[in-house]
Order: sequence, then C-alpha cells, then structure tokens
Amino acid sequence: MQRVLVTGGAGFIGSNLVRMMVESGRYHVVVLDALTYAGNLANLADVLAGDRCDFEHGNICDAAFVRSVLQRHSPTSILHLAAESHVDRSIASAAPFVETNVMGTLVLLEAVRAYPQMRFVHVSTDEVYGTLGPDDAPFTETTPLDPTSPYAASKAASDLLVQSFIRTHSVDAVITRCSNNYGPFQFPEKFIPLMTLNALEGRPLPIYGDGLQVRDWLHVDDHCRGILAALERGTTGSVYNFGGYGERTNEEMVSAILAQTGASADLKTYVTDRKAHDRRYAINADKARHELGWAPERELEEGLRSTIAWYMQNRAWSDNVRTGAYRTYYETHYNTTL
Ligand code: NAD
Ligand code: DAU
Repeated sequence: MQRVLVTGGAGFIGSNLVRMMVESGRYHVVVLDALTYAGNLANLADVLAGDRCDFEHGNICDAAFVRSVLQRHSPTSILHLAAESHVDRSIASAAPFVETNVMGTLVLLEAVRAYPQMRFVHVSTDEVYGTLGPDDAPFTETTPLDPTSPYAASKAASDLLVQSFIRTHSVDAVITRCSNNYGPFQFPEKFIPLMTLNALEGRPLPIYGDGLQVRDWLHVDDHCRGILAALERGTTGSVYNFGGYGERTNEEMVSAILAQTGASADLKTYVTDRKAHDRRYAINADKARHELGWAPERELEEGLRSTIAWYMQNRAWSDNVRTGAYRTYYETHYNTTL
C-alpha cells in the first residue's frame, strides 16, 4: 500500500480525493491541512474514523512542520492541493494567495529535494491560461500562461516554480490543470453550492454581469481520477489538462438549479460583474486521454442533479461550514485553537 501525503485534503477536492483513495484500498493517506475557512474535518469524518488516513494540522508555509511531517510519515508521493482557491477573495486581497499558493508551494518543493524518489503532483488550474473568445480553440498544455486574477497569477507562479525545480533539482513532478469542478463538500462561496443554497433559502441568486460567461464543468470524481492517473502514470515534467467537455453559460447553470430546486426565476439577480471576469474556459484533454488513459465519466446533467440533491439532503453541513460551527467543534474536541 502506497503512503501518500495530500495537502489541502480537508478541502473540497482534497476530501473527495482522500475518500476515493482510502476506499480503493491502495493507499494509506496522510492529510496535511491548515483548516482555513475552506477546510473542514467534517468533510473527512467517515475516512478519519478508519485506520487508513492520518491527519496533520499545520501550514504548508511552515518549513519545519513540513519537514517533520515528511520525516515522521515517509510518504512515497505528495498530492499538492492546498491553496487559497476563490477568485473573488483574491480580488479583495491578494496577499494570502501569494503566501499559500506561491510561498507554500516553494516550501514543499524545497522539502521534497531531500527525497529524490518522491513524486510530487502539483494540482493547478485552467485559469493560468487566461480567457478565451467564443470561437477560440480550447486550451492545450502548450497554451501560453496569461493569468487574469491574482488567484490565477499565484497558481501560474507556482506552476513555474514546480517546472524550475524539475529542471534545476530533478524533482519528480507533474502538473495537472483542470477546469471548474462541482460535487459534494464544495464551500458555498462557489457558484453551484451558492446558487443552490440561495435557491433553497429563497434568497437572490447573484449573477455577475450578463451571465453569459462560459465555464467547463467537470465532476470532482473525474478530477480525482485524473490526479491519481497523473500520480501513477504521468511522465516526469509533464503537464496534463483535465476538462469535462461540459461548456455551459452561467445563465444555463442557474436555470438548471432553479428547475431542480423548484425555486422561482424571480430570484435571479444581475449584479455588478467580477473585475476582469474571464469570459470563457474550455479544455482540450487529448493528452490526458492518450498518455494517462483518462476521460471524464460523469455526464453533466446527471452529475449536476446528484450534486444539487446532495446539497438538498445535507443542509446541516452547509449551515455548519457557513457559520464556522465545525471549527468550534474541532477546537473544543481537540482542545486547540485554529
Ligand atoms: P478549497 O478552497 O476547497 O480547499 C483548499 C484546502 O487547502 C482547504 O482544506 C484549506 O484548509 C487548505 N489550505 C489552504 N491554505 C493552506 C495552507 N497554507 N496550508 C495548509 N493547508 C491550507 O479548494 P479546492 O477547490 O478543493 O481546490 C483544491 C486545489 O485544486 C487548489 O490547488 C485549486 O487551485 C485546484 N483547482 C480547483 C478547481 C475547482 O474548481 N475547485 C479546479 C482546478 C484546480
Ligand atoms: O477553472 C478552475 C477554477 O474554477 C478553479 O481554479 C477555482 O479554484 C474555482 O474557484 C473556479 O473558479 P471560477 O471563478 O470559475 O469559479 P466560481 O465558482 O467563483 O465562479 C464560476 C462562474 O460563476 C464565474 O463565471 C463567476 C460566476 N459567479 C460566481 C459567483 C460566486 C457568479 O455569476 N455569481 C457568483 O456569486
């Protein structure tokens, strides 16, 4: 059984990934997570109850802590997901994004240099490529980096750092760049859970600008399978794009959410656009298909239906993450302060 360190394993994608890994029976997972507002041990409660997952509470920017985790757990690989991930927050305040996404990644890379056999999978985003026009070809792995938001710029910077450590220090790393994920346990600041909960609670659904921006939606399970394929079969130094071939306008997604929740279309509210809002993302994932044997399996309409159903059935989870109640539980339970 492989021992794998997953940074950011208590967040949205991380917790889905850790669950998939543990359930496969092929991995022993060590989660390293700072438990920011976006990270939550409740996302991992079922997994942590078993004996195939350990948890280390700490910050990837803390070099001594990172070194100590590697020494104590001896993982064979690292799946690096820890990040500040929300574009709107990066527009309001960019510094935490540079701190965690750039400096935190640098700390991990420096630590990994002491373990030449260790594989490092850097989980990045299609946002590093910038924006597409309506008739542009989808992003490929060789599309030039052209980030728009401070979030995307911090991820692009971390990608370049990883590439420099591959070349300079022979670190065994691969980079993955994925489109918009959806699924259970996504913090309700992001589009799909936010719109779903607002619809259920009869609150306005804030559509930025004209709502005709296009995103390519991929179920989180498909992204997680891609990350594991990159871990197992990726070529050192390679970049792999993952996408769902599921381009939809935000307006179309809101209509689907309204239809399933039964909420009134009157809740749709057009608000001031996001600054420098990327108009369209689309991914060409041919390389992942050819080299990793990866392709998306979840069809968007079905995946969206089951995701909205999950939020409808797990209202306590949403209430608790929004109010920070799980934080309080953790602090009391573990006699610590986050
Ligand atoms: P998330 O915000 O839900 O989770 C991030 C996790 O990282 C949280 O558990 C948080 O506590 C932890 N974290 C943050 N700062 C930390 C630090 N300094 N030290 C240790 N842990 C820290 O994010 P997500 O949506 O699950 O995204 C995970 C990764 O995937 C990110 O790197 C993101 O850039 C990338 N990604 C996300 C998407 C998407 O659609 N959500 C798409 C492509 C790529
Ligand atoms: O493409 C991958 C990226 O997808 C990831 O790297 C990011 O971590 C992830 O947050 C996501 O970024 P987006 O900015 O595309 O996701 P978000 O959920 O914030 O917004 C999706 C679209 O919906 C976008 O066009 C902005 C719009 N939107 C968003 C919010 C929160 C609204 O219209 N209203 C809203 O209230």
